[in-house]
Amino acid sequence: MKITPVSEHVGAEVSEIDIRRLTDGDTATLLQAWGQHGVLFFRDQELTPDDHITFAERFAPIDVNKFFQPVETHPQIAQVLKEPDQLGNIGGGWHTDHSYDQIPAKGSILLAREVPPEGGDTRFLSVAAAYDALSDGLKATLETLSAHHTNVHIFGAGSKHMDKADNRLQNPENVGSAIHPVVIKHPTTGQKLLYVNLAFTTRLISADGHEWTEEESRPLIDYLLGHTAEGGFDYQFSWDEGSLAMWDNRSTWHWALNDYQGHRRLMHRITIAGEALSAAAS
Ligand code: OGA
Ligand code: MN
Repeated sequence: MKITPVSEHVGAEVSEIDIRRLTDGDTATLLQAWGQHGVLFFRDQELTPDDHITFAERFAPIDVNKFFQPVETHPQIAQVLKEPDQLGNIGGGWHTDHSYDQIPAKGSILLAREVPPEGGDTRFLSVAAAYDALSDGLKATLETLSAHHTNVHIFGAGSKHMDKADNRLQNPENVGSAIHPVVIKHPTTGQKLLYVNLAFTTRLISADGHEWTEEESRPLIDYLLGHTAEGGFDYQFSWDEGSLAMWDNRSTWHWALNDYQGHRRLMHRITIAGEALSAAAS
């Protein structure tokens, strides 16, 4: 197998490999590369849903998403779908998956089943690079803070996202929230990571557990989001049918571009279980 970095801060393409036939040594090599690059891209993989599941389970048990419609025959696989007549897409803003869970998913493994003739790319970025680029002063302050993450405004009953999703999302009663350190330590690489995101992070909490209001939190969270999104830490991936991306939900963000109106795009996603997050300062 060949591993080729695709940008300065994030992503590597893995070629000369059929991921249906991996040795334990291959898996170890992929795990190492995944930690180093944050996202791995594969092309021309001919996977059945069972092959997709087998691949995912090499890395961790599956953590089934509660809100996405599953593939009918394989409840472990979520459908990420946009029909030609639908306007909204899923994942259409910078985010990381499942940060609202107490133990967020380690990674997501997305396989392209049907892609539009043009567009429908996904952008990725490194929140390790975003953290590194902050001043020592702000880093020291951020390391004392935690943040509240919730999905109520996205997956809850009455959310505008639920309305726009036209039955692509389900189970609004399963909404939840969690508190995580603003700067976490990657469980395997030890890298420091800025762990806030546009979709789910709503307010900050001080070191002694006191809450900031949303109004007070917003300017600092927005500063961090802007710094991360606009710092040149990103890479844009173009899919073909049979492309697969596996991203680390702690060390990266992603954003599905919605620029292919009138065409169908269908992806299959498996999320895999993570471990409890620890603060970088601990
Ligand atoms: C996701 C998501 C990205 C895409 O599946 O978590 O955000 O490009 N999708 O479809
Ligand atoms: Mn996502």
